[in-house]
Amino acid sequence: MIVLGIETSCDETAAAVVTADRRILSNVVLSQLDEHRPYGGVVPEIAARAHLDHIDRLVGQAMDEAGMGFADLSGVAATGGPGLIGGVIVGVMTAKAIAAVHGLPFLAVNHLEGHALTARLTDDVAFPYLLLLVSGGHCQLLLVEGVGRYSLLGSTIDDAVGEAFDKTAKMLDLPYPGGPSLEKAAVAGDPARYALPRPMLGRPGCDFSFSGLKTAVRHIAEAMPRPLPEREQADLAASFQAAAAESLVNRCRNAMTGLSQSHPEVRTLVVAGGVASNQTVRVALTGLCAGFGYSFTAPPPRLCTDNAAMIAWAGIERLRLGLTDGLDFAPRPRWPLDPDAVSMQPRATARHQQTAQHTPLAARS
Ligand code: KG4
Ligand code: ZN
Repeated sequence: MIVLGIETSCDETAAAVVTADRRILSNVVLSQLDEHRPYGGVVPEIAARAHLDHIDRLVGQAMDEAGMGFADLSGVAATGGPGLIGGVIVGVMTAKAIAAVHGLPFLAVNHLEGHALTARLTDDVAFPYLLLLVSGGHCQLLLVEGVGRYSLLGSTIDDAVGEAFDKTAKMLDLPYPGGPSLEKAAVAGDPARYALPRPMLGRPGCDFSFSGLKTAVRHIAEAMPRPLPEREQADLAASFQAAAAESLVNRCRNAMTGLSQSHPEVRTLVVAGGVASNQTVRVALTGLCAGFGYSFTAPPPRLCTDNAAMIAWAGIERLRLGLTDGLDFAPRPRWPLDPDAVSMQPRATARHQQTAQHTPLAARS
């Protein structure tokens, strides 16, 4: 079984070819960073046009690198949501066209399910597992019991953790994109220099909050001289990163404690999404799992941030179960993994909302 995956839900145009025996034959990602950098965030209209400009070439490149023709494929998968709707439409229409012309099954993949199942592509992780999904628009703990079987254990009540990294980076005058540049700046910093709050620490449950931490950073950053001395910048970045990681660990610990009663068969923690590429977060979660007797899986960083291999893989998982979609599938700007928990979910967070305020609101993946 060989599936072409297409990802266009935010600011990466991506195409990949993946096999059911877990081989990534090609994985092409074109970042739109340069287009969005002048605005300090993702501008949906610019993203949609850029996807349209590049998608055909990228699909061609992914097929060439895989050494495949469309006739060799078993199906075509595209992110069907959640995300910036203009971009999602571009990917879905492209996949539908290829599927229609070549008589292939079409698979509309939930972008979050792409992140959620990546550890099964990279490490063959078995169900069930606890998933910490940490990206620019989502911060959730989920019990994953199978393809399409997700129970939300906790979610952020304000910012997603990736959004908090991005906003903090901005306050520290670090270059866009914020998360990776904050991690880089923090390497030289002292994480104990500033006593920042550890959000939600000691509170029951698995919900997250990052706005208090962000405000604490703002107060300190605003009082600093400009241009920011490198030492202060590095120390505050490291202090923020340590506080965010500790908060994530604390919430995961609560989830593990709860699951040890209700689902003792869960013995694995998987971290996924862009923030999962952060080394401090990975090390902190490794320590937590060691203490709990859990095994820990974090996909390689390039498969944590948005990519199409995860979409192709989720497509394979769905195709194996016969979960194909009709060509009348309508792209979804919002698409929770656990629909039963939808009423518990906070407002959609949006990586681009923080900066490009002139742009319309849209759900982020
Ligand atoms: O999963 P992703 O690529 O896109 C979404 O689906 O949102 O995640 C992007 C988010 C951004 O907020 C970005 O700043 C954050 O992940 N991120 C990081 C790192 N790399 C990406 N945050 C902290 N450290 C990193 N190394
Ligand atoms: Zn994502």
